[in-house]
Amino acid sequence: MIPFNHLGWIFKTFGPVIYPQSVRTSLCNALSTLSPHATVLDVGGGTGVMCEFAYTCRDDLDFTAVDPAEGMLKHAKAYVKTHKASAEELPFEDNSFDMILMGEALHHFNDIDLALKETVRVLKKEGGLFIYDFNVNTFKGKSICTMEKLLGEPGNFFEPYDLQEKLEKYGFRSTITKHGWRYTVDASLAL
Ligand SMILES: C[S@@+](CC[C@H](N)C(=O)[O-])C[C@H]1O[C@@H](n2cnc3c(N)ncnc32)[C@H](O)[C@@H]1O
Repeated sequence: MIPFNHLGWIFKTFGPVIYPQSVRTSLCNALSTLSPHATVLDVGGGTGVMCEFAYTCRDDLDFTAVDPAEGMLKHAKAYVKTHKASAEELPFEDNSFDMILMGEALHHFNDIDLALKETVRVLKKEGGLFIYDFNVNTFKGKSICTMEKLLGEPGNFFEPYDLQEKLEKYGFRSTITKHGWRYTVDASLAL
């Protein structure tokens, strides 16, 4: 397993450098549809880097991050509420959030189906889901997947269109944008 609880300072320092500008632009585009003061949950939020990027374009939003590693969460900015929790068991009421973010996190979840059920449960009707992850159908994506599996991580990486198909089964309509060996999914719960 990757000891995220002890790696907070590394992610705090290098996390922002790893995020391509085009991913930040896609994130801001996805957030642009939200109403003022909408609620946003960053699942597997780590040090809250996605919330920080989101804040640069929408500082009016209400940010919450969950992560099982408190050593990551403790680096989050003061405007991000934090909860120690996993994607498979979110400590929130049904219909709580307008948008959920997952940045470089989905492939770490132990049970993707349970995590998606929880995502749908806590999202409001027509809520949004923004995912940023690595494409396992590329050399770099495959290499990271192999390395993470060797480290004992679940390595639940997807080819983007397979993930799109899975999301459809949970009621999401989505658009994929490729960013080289990485991709983003901008999805919303269909009625
Ligand atoms: C590569 S880090 C990404 C953190 C942050 N989203 C970012 O972009 O820097 C992956 C994060 O997923 C978290 N994680 C691992 N298993 C998880 C689970 N089952 N539910 C939620 N988060 C999980 C880890 O603790 C870690 O903080």
